[in-house]
Amino acid sequence: MANNKKILITYASGTGSTEKLAQVIAEGMRKVKGIEVDVKRARNVKPDDAVSFNGYAIGSHSATEYMEGEIKNLFEELYQRKEKVSGKPLLLFTTGQGRQAAALASLEKLADVLNPQFIKPGLAVKGMPGEADKANALEMGEKLADAVHKLKSNYIVA
Ligand SMILES: Cc1cc2nc3c(=O)[nH]c(=O)nc-3n(C[C@H](O)[C@H](O)[C@H](O)COP(=O)(O)O)c2cc1C
Repeated sequence: MANNKKILITYASGTGSTEKLAQVIAEGMRKVKGIEVDVKRARNVKPDDAVSFNGYAIGSHSATEYMEGEIKNLFEELYQRKEKVSGKPLLLFTTGQGRQAAALASLEKLADVLNPQFIKPGLAVKGMPGEADKANALEMGEKLADAVHKLKSNYIVA
């Protein structure tokens, strides 16, 4: 619908754990009325399209204590358009095999320059999300969608 607000969930995933987490976050978002959700691999996101969304969830699997390269590339593209994403709600998520919190910290540091409205805590999940992780992801997805729903304008320009 024309007045719906749109959220982009984008992620990097090699073996499916982070993709699964993205899908559960999307399910949480869809509980909120008036919210549309697009779920896309980061390499398929066009930066000029990305800035038209009202909120974001961005996630990566851990790769040598950091985020995957395609996510870093996306942040670099968004940085060049930062006045169009500044102030918008953002949830970050990672998976890993024990050091997922380090990857989450790397995401937070990079995202901070975009001046987002961070939806915290971000999600750092070990491997494939289990039942407790899924419950948490549903809740955080809904929390992000609520924040987007409450935004007055289509986007806030800092
Ligand atoms: C090249 C490579 C580097 C990795 N580096 C880390 C790491 O530094 N810390 C960690 O906890 N897990 C690391 N992992 C494990 C993955 O992040 C983890 O299995 C993750 O849940 C996989 O997510 P995916 O199924 O979405 O690809 C690494 C995996 C690969 C393939």
